[in-house]
Amino acid sequence: MPIVHWRDDYTVKVNIFDDHHKTLFNAINQLYDTILERYEQDQTISPSETNAIQTAFDSLLHYTEYHFTAEEKELEYHAYPDYAQQKKAHDFFKNKIIAAMEAFKNSGEVEIELLEFLKRWLIDHILVLDRNYSGFLNSKGVT
Ligand SMILES: [Fe+2]
Ligand SMILES: [Fe+2]
Repeated sequence: MPIVHWRDDYTVKVNIFDDHHKTLFNAINQLYDTILERYEQDQTISPSETNAIQTAFDSLLHYTEYHFTAEEKELEYHAYPDYAQQKKAHDFFKNKIIAAMEAFKNSGEVEIELLEFLKRWLIDHILVLDRNYSGFLNSKGVT
């Protein structure tokens, strides 16, 4: 069952970035499903379950980096006034994922609250900071 659902009012009015955001939601859902599956079976972690969780974490991290870089490049290219704020927020989120991956590697445990946090952070980021660039990028012909 997905933890996060796309809604039309999450649009940032730049098609490519809406697509990126949808893919990020999918990556969070994939990680959530993989973790839940493990808990639904039994409490022992088999190597294949550990691998599946690591793979889901890797996908989330890689796609997050891909999307943030694309957004930052576009905003920097057009000299977006709040670029620094975006960059700082992106770095914070990336570091959260990296820290969670490290913690999982060391303890073999993932807190379900982490998934709730990632979901909430991403939605809030899209609704506030990302949506703030909509008008700016649209005015530069980026739609
Ligand atoms: Fe974004
Ligand atoms: Fe962003």
